[in-house]
Parts: sequence; C-alpha cells; structure tokens
Amino acid sequence: QDIQVTIVGSSNVDITALMARLPGPGETVLADSYQLSPGGKGANQALAAQLAGAATEFIGAVGQDSHSEVALGQLDEEGVKLDRVARTIEPTGVAIIQVDSGAENSIAVVSGANSTVTGEAVKAAGAIEGILVLQGEIPASGIKAAMDAATDRIVLNLAPVIELERDYLLKANPLVVNEHEAALILAQLDGSESISTEAEPVIAQKLMDHGLASLVITLGANGCLVAEQGSEIQQLPAVKVKAVDTTGAGDAFTGAVAARLAQGEDLAEAAVFAGRFAALTVQAHGAQASYPRSLENL
Ligand code: RIB
Ligand code: NA
Repeated sequence: QDIQVTIVGSSNVDITALMARLPGPGETVLADSYQLSPGGKGANQALAAQLAGAATEFIGAVGQDSHSEVALGQLDEEGVKLDRVARTIEPTGVAIIQVDSGAENSIAVVSGANSTVTGEAVKAAGAIEGILVLQGEIPASGIKAAMDAATDRIVLNLAPVIELERDYLLKANPLVVNEHEAALILAQLDGSESISTEAEPVIAQKLMDHGLASLVITLGANGCLVAEQGSEIQQLPAVKVKAVDTTGAGDAFTGAVAARLAQGEDLAEAAVFAGRFAALTVQAHGAQASYPRSLENL
C-alpha cells in the first residue's frame, strides 16, 4: 500500500513514575509504580496516524540498546513502516516522566539518537511520501530538510518550540500547537522578546496574518481553534472526559489529524475526529500504551 503519512521525528522510551503529587526541588517523593513504555512525539504521532487509518511511515533514529525494542515495538506491531529508522551509536532517546493523581505531569527528555536526525541524515533518507508530519524534538536542520523533500501538505507540530526561520514556519499547513506554543511562535514571527498573553483567538488571528495557510490551536479540555485562510476561525468543543494521564495526547491529536487529512477530510472534520481520538487517550496511563486500538467508539 502507498504510504499516506510520513512522520520524521523522535522516538523515546518513556520511564513514567506514578505518584500522588509531584516532588518539588530537592524533595523526594515515594512513587506508587512505574512503567517503561514507548513514546517520543514523532513515534507517538506515527502510531496515532496508523491507528487512525493511514498507511504510515516513521523516519527517525534509535540506539543499538535494548530500549530500541521498546521504542519501536508498538509501531512495528501495528504495521508502521520502519525501514528508514537509523540505528546509531547514541542511545535510544529517553523521557523521564512523573505523573500525579490529578494527571499533572513533568517531562525531561534526553535526546540521544534523536539528535542524529539532522538535515544530512534526512536528505540521505530520500523521498518523503504523502502528508509530512514534524515536531520539535529533532534538530531544526532535520525538520527543514524534510520540508524541502515534501511533495504534499506539511503538518507541523512545533512541540517543543524551537527556532525555525519564517519561510519554514510558513510551510506548515496546518501548524498544530497548544496555546503556549502558539504564543511563543507568534513572538518568533513578530521578532519580539515578549510573549503575548492575549486571548487564543487573537493569537490565532495574528498567526494567520503572518500568512500561515492553516492553524490548529489545541486548548486541552476546551477543545481547539481551527483557522484557515479565507474562512472564519472556528472553536470546536472537546469531549468531556476524566483525565488520568495526558502524556502524548497532543501527539495523538496531531497524528490523527494527519491521517484524516490524508483520507480526504477537511481540516475542521479532521480536528473533530482527532479531538475524540485524543480524548480516549487521556483516560489511560502512558502515551502509545493508551492509544485506541480500534475506532469502534469514535
Ligand atoms: O508528547 C509526549 C512525549 O514527549 C512523551 O512520549 C515523551 O517521550 C516526550 O517526548
Ligand atoms: Na494517556
């Protein structure tokens, strides 16, 4: 089958400790349990895209350590194409995650192999098939090389926000970010030192005024804003659920958006589906571990 969505990005092993409350600086808290599970924003998005019905390829890098099997295990099981995942001397990326009983989290990422997904490496990987999805967990040079090689629309989830030249930021169609990331990217485009604290629709309009083709700002429990050139900004509500762990929910949303765009839906339709998909994931622990294996309840 032809690849419909290609994700160029990060893959990690998530080491997650579950605890009543997060420790403060210098504090030790006894956790209840821990999980070792596949994560990384790129890999999470690849799994989401595949589960949302698109034939998906993941291009990235892992180490030659035992973590690499955990990192790629779910993608492999679900049939994501992995032929162009490099095996590097650098260890597989690791995310150290703490989640409390109120679903609050803190995440530290050690990039490892992901730092080798450079412009040179991506160029050497060759042609990009279908819709391209990117995040901010690989070097900017890798992101730009992938954009240069793309022949279809580009879904850019710039999380975390890293420096990217204006010309590249404006290749996003859509840019998918949360409200904090949206404000940071607006500051980048404005060349401003200060981060806007304006309401999300105002920030969305300002981002669109810079010339973005389309934009989705995710608002957690408040749903999302969808903007496209030539039409009014729409606010789409979220499905009300009880969150236990929001790790990787944004990635689930982005991957699902890309999959539905690849299947011919318009951006608002894709965002509605992705919102429901992501809502299922916050009700269980882990990132990929919580992604729905069947679309029956969607
Ligand atoms: O977005 C969630 C992801 O961020 C986790 O899976 C972790 O690996 C970090 O990259
Ligand atoms: Na989850």
